Amino acid sequence: MLQGSRIRISPMQFSDIEEVVKIERRIFPSPWSIEIFEEQLNRTDCAFYFVVKVDDKIVGYAGIIFTGDEGHITNVAVNENYRRRKIGSALLLRLIEMAQDKRSRHLFLELRKSNKVALKFYEKFGFQILGLRRNYYSDTCLPVGTAGEDAVVMFVNNVSSANYQDRLQIIRDSIGFGEV
Ligand SMILES: CC(C)(COP(=O)(O)OP(=O)(O)OC[C@H]1O[C@@H](n2cnc3c(N)ncnc32)[C@H](O)[C@@H]1OP(=O)(O)O)[C@@H](O)C(=O)NCCC(=O)NCCS
Repeated sequence: MLQGSRIRISPMQFSDIEEVVKIERRIFPSPWSIEIFEEQLNRTDCAFYFVVKVDDKIVGYAGIIFTGDEGHITNVAVNENYRRRKIGSALLLRLIEMAQDKRSRHLFLELRKSNKVALKFYEKFGFQILGLRRNYYSDTCLPVGTAGEDAVVMFVNNVSSANYQDRLQIIRDSIGFGEV
């Protein structure tokens, strides 16, 4: 599907938001609105968002917010039809490179406990489970009397270490579509 296509990763623009939100609405039970993405793009000092375009069509996006020497990954999402083609990896790699540029050593994120695919995805990048936030997601349909789905908090330390660089290089080499 990607062979012969032009694949590009670039900073998210305000003009990308409408297309991004269409994907967001398909994927997430509590999608971010256009206004939330606009708010994020206005935080030019600490928030960074990227999109992947295949032949000018947005197929994925991701973002990170920095506070001190910590980065919080807010979202990584790939259009259903384009998954398992390393697009998510290219996006996460870009966020981690951004963290290295910003001298941000520790990265955190939350995901739904039921999201085994994302768990595997982040583990590939060396993220480990720090703990659970109980009942964090109130939008998941759960049995009566249950408050909400737990979030798994994951982290990776010292993304600038030599060991971690080696891990990233292996992932970088595995992304078959060259410079993005
Ligand atoms: C998680 C997500 C971003 C992964 O994107 P992707 O482009 O399909 O991922 P990649 O092709 O780069 O996969 C990288 C690695 O993740 C893991 N992975 C990805 N999809 C997987 C699946 N369906 N089953 C098991 N492992 C999987 C594998 O380890 C994979 O490496 P491999 O292909 O060498 O086995 C994508 O599935 C998605 O958008 N999910 C919905 C949104 C979401 O859950 N986001 C994360 C929480 S915010």
